[in-house]
Amino acid sequence: MLLSTICTLSLLAPLISAQPTTLRKTLTGHIDPSQVFTFVYAPFEVPPSTTSITVLQTYSHKNNGNALDLGLFDQRGLSLSASRGWSGGFRNNFTITPSWATPGYNPGAIEPGTWNVVLGPYTSVPEGIDWQLEIEMGFDPVHEYFALDPASVNLDPLCNGLCTEDEQRQGSWLRGDFHIHTIYSDGRYTPQEQIDIAVRQGLDFIFFSDHNTDSSNNVMGTFQALAPDLLIGRGIEVTTRAGHWQALGLDPDQLVEWRYKDTENYTAAAKDVHRRGGLVSINHPFAACSACNWVFDDWTANDAIEVWNAEWDSTDAAAVGKWQDLLVDGKYTTAIGGSDSHSPPALNGIPTTVVRSRGRSQAAVVEGVKAGGAYIVRGPGMEIEFRVRLPSLLGLRTVEIGDKVKASPVGAVAVVRAKGFEGRTKICFVTERGYVYNSTLRNDGDGNGEVKRFVPVSSRFLRVEVRNATGDGDEVLGLTNPVWFL
Ligand SMILES: *[C@@H]1O[C@H](CO)[C@@H](O)[C@H](O)[C@H]1NC(C)=O
Ligand SMILES: *[C@@H]1O[C@H](CO)[C@@H](O)[C@H](O)[C@H]1NC(C)=O
Ligand SMILES: *[C@@H]1O[C@H](CO)[C@@H](O)[C@H](O)[C@H]1NC(C)=O
Ligand SMILES: *[C@@H]1O[C@H](CO)[C@@H](O)[C@H](O)[C@H]1NC(C)=O
Repeated sequence: MLLSTICTLSLLAPLISAQPTTLRKTLTGHIDPSQVFTFVYAPFEVPPSTTSITVLQTYSHKNNGNALDLGLFDQRGLSLSASRGWSGGFRNNFTITPSWATPGYNPGAIEPGTWNVVLGPYTSVPEGIDWQLEIEMGFDPVHEYFALDPASVNLDPLCNGLCTEDEQRQGSWLRGDFHIHTIYSDGRYTPQEQIDIAVRQGLDFIFFSDHNTDSSNNVMGTFQALAPDLLIGRGIEVTTRAGHWQALGLDPDQLVEWRYKDTENYTAAAKDVHRRGGLVSINHPFAACSACNWVFDDWTANDAIEVWNAEWDSTDAAAVGKWQDLLVDGKYTTAIGGSDSHSPPALNGIPTTVVRSRGRSQAAVVEGVKAGGAYIVRGPGMEIEFRVRLPSLLGLRTVEIGDKVKASPVGAVAVVRAKGFEGRTKICFVTERGYVYNSTLRNDGDGNGEVKRFVPVSSRFLRVEVRNATGDGDEVLGLTNPVWFL
């Protein structure tokens, strides 16, 4: 009885409804190896009343010499604002509907017109890439619509993002991570897992930065209740074909152009981020994977450089070397760190960047980094206080990391207090002439200690590194931005 009822209903359904229940299309094509690092668009028509789009991508020599990225542009065309999502090489299929979408893609209205799947050839075998897209459109009625739900980026509502000293309660030196991924791009961590780890790592702020998509930034409001004291900043890792960069301090729904390998296009996109109040940082400039290292011929459109990506290694040492060259050239580029954590066992907060901020807001953290008020440590529990005392007209003056002061003709005294660095460590003082002093940190057994040194007269800047001095270990455990002497 029950069975026959179901049969009748399903037989009747096509007669009752004027629309087919699904519409399927298959697109195919060939990409030549010469097209690697370009973008190929596969247009398709979306009829009125469509309420879901599913795309399934297959291609030749997958995981065997060919790699083809995947994304979607809607009926508005191929401009940045028409981007509906990006999953790079991480997914072979996605669905979008007005209320819900596969992470990495933005749900919302599905308007009729010409849409485009974007294919990004990343590597190719000599025969090229033969690709196929199976597109399925559905017409089920919808009753729910997606609404942007970004996290608040100001946890001190009493002041307007940038607190005065009186208003500032928990501001000052905030611990955070500028580079975090989730399932909204190529990570396996959910936002909730990343937030739980950040709390355990003692962080005050994190910036989610999924690759070429704002879709994670647009839904973080839901997760904020999990950790009301954690500032959840908005970022995108702009993953181009000539290097990766962080666009940090973004608005909800703000995208950043990534489809280029020319310096002018990067500079234009960076300017756009600045125009809206954001921060630009070059990521892992010497990373070893293809198109991950910095190829753009521009080291000045950025405010910061990620000199320390995940656990310290030789690519970080190379980044510090490049940063030192920029400092010697008189460029105020801020060194920051990022865990680049995607999946277990990587942890956010390794390394941790500590920023002098006027309050717990995205705007204050961005301002602090732009001002150079930042240092990096390997992880939880480690702190560096680096102060310079010098005579001034009003008596002895104390300045901190990021400050720019008039050089004193009689010199100055640098005081470094380090906390939480266990084992044998050394404090290295670095000026434009390189390493000027190395001092063993005499620590009290808990990893706390203090070093005082005279600042060489006529130094243009002074910065500090904390290094492992056990055996042949020389890795960096902490690193400050400079104090500048003008
Ligand atoms: C679609 O993607 C999901 C998640 O990545 C995957 O588990 C599933 O196997 C994919 N479907 C097909 C048909 O490949
Ligand atoms: C890249 O720059 C070229 C020349 O300046 C311009 O025509 C093009 O629109 C830019 N492309 C993107 C994706 O911004
Ligand atoms: C000080 O330490 C740095 C970093 O380990 C090293 O490169 C340099 O040679 C050291 N300088 C002296 C004088 O030991
Ligand atoms: C310093 O290096 C030694 C030898 O490689 C290692 O055992 C130790 O854990 C390191 N210390 C820290 C604080 O990382």
